[in-house]
Amino acid sequence: MVLARDILDVLDDITKGRCLKNSEDFSTNKNPYIVTKSSNIPGKAITELPGLICGNLDMEVKKIAVVMTLSEHDIELAAATKVDAIITHHPVADACNSGGLLLKDYLNLYNISLFELHEALHGLHPGMSWIHGHVPYYSNFSYSNIPGNVVYVGETLPEIKTLGDILNRLNYLMGLNSHMCLSNNNEKNSLCLRGEILLGNENSSVKNLIHIFPHTGFTPSHLEELVLKFPNIDTVLVSFSRVFSPHQLIEKANELGLNFICGNSHTFEIFENGMPLAQAIKDYLPDLEVVIFKEVVTSVPLENISTVQMRDYAKYISKKYLHK
Ligand SMILES: [Fe+2]
Ligand SMILES: [Fe+2]
Repeated sequence: MVLARDILDVLDDITKGRCLKNSEDFSTNKNPYIVTKSSNIPGKAITELPGLICGNLDMEVKKIAVVMTLSEHDIELAAATKVDAIITHHPVADACNSGGLLLKDYLNLYNISLFELHEALHGLHPGMSWIHGHVPYYSNFSYSNIPGNVVYVGETLPEIKTLGDILNRLNYLMGLNSHMCLSNNNEKNSLCLRGEILLGNENSSVKNLIHIFPHTGFTPSHLEELVLKFPNIDTVLVSFSRVFSPHQLIEKANELGLNFICGNSHTFEIFENGMPLAQAIKDYLPDLEVVIFKEVVTSVPLENISTVQMRDYAKYISKKYLHK
C-alpha cells in the first residue's frame, strides 16, 4: 500500500532533501526552495512549498497524476478517473489553480492530495540540453547575479551538424507530425508552437551553442560578454520562451554573426520535466498507477466555437445582460 508520505519521501529523495517535511521547515525558513515570487502586483505573490500542499500524509494513494499547471480541468479529470494524488510542477495558489474555489474545499470534496515541486526539481538533470541536442560545458543558473537567468554553453551531439538537425530532432522527439500541427483551419492549439530558425537556415552548421531562456532577464550585453568568453559560439538557441522579430537579441546575434534558433516552447515542459518526474515516481513505487495530464490549449474564433445554439445564447446574454 502506498501512502502520501511515501510519495513525499520519493520527492525528497529525488531532489536530495529539498522538500518541506514539516511545518517547522516553513516557519524557520531554512529551505532555499521555499521561494516567494512577486511581480509587485498587490495581492498576487505566491510562495512555492516543495512537498505536500493539501491532504494528509496517511492518505492511501493508488493512482497519481503528474501535471504542469493545475487547473479546475485537472481536478475534475482527476476525480473522474479516480486519481488520489496530484503532483503539479508549477506552484499553486488558492483559488488561482482551483477554478476560483479554495483548494482545500475542492480537493477534500474528491479526497485528492496535492503536491507541488517546482524550483526544487529544476537543475537536477540535463534533459533540456539533451532534447535540444547538446551537452553543456558551461552552465550558470543566475548569470549576472540574476536568479533564474539560466545560461548553458554546449557542444552539439555528434549527430547534430546543422540547425535543421536540431529542428528534426525536436519534431521527432516531441512527436510533432504535420497532422498534429495542422488540425483544423480555424483552430490553433498550443502544440503548434514548434521550433523555428530566425537567423541562418536548415543547412547552417552548428557546433557550439549558447542556450538561453528569453523570459529570464537575459540581455544583448550578456550575449556579447559570453561570446567574448566563448568565441567558438556559432548559434543562439532559445527555448521555453521565444522572441519575435524584430528583437534586440536577434539583432545582437546578427551583429555577432551567429545563427538564431527557437527550440521547444514552455508547452513541452510536460515532456521535458514532467515525464522524467513521473518515471522516477514509478521507478520508486512500481505498484502506483502513474498518469500524466497533458494540456492542449486550443484557440477558436468566436464565430466558430461550440454549437449554433450556444453562440445564439452568448449573443442573447450579451445583449440582454452584459451591456450598460
Ligand atoms: Fe515551467
Ligand atoms: Fe520548470
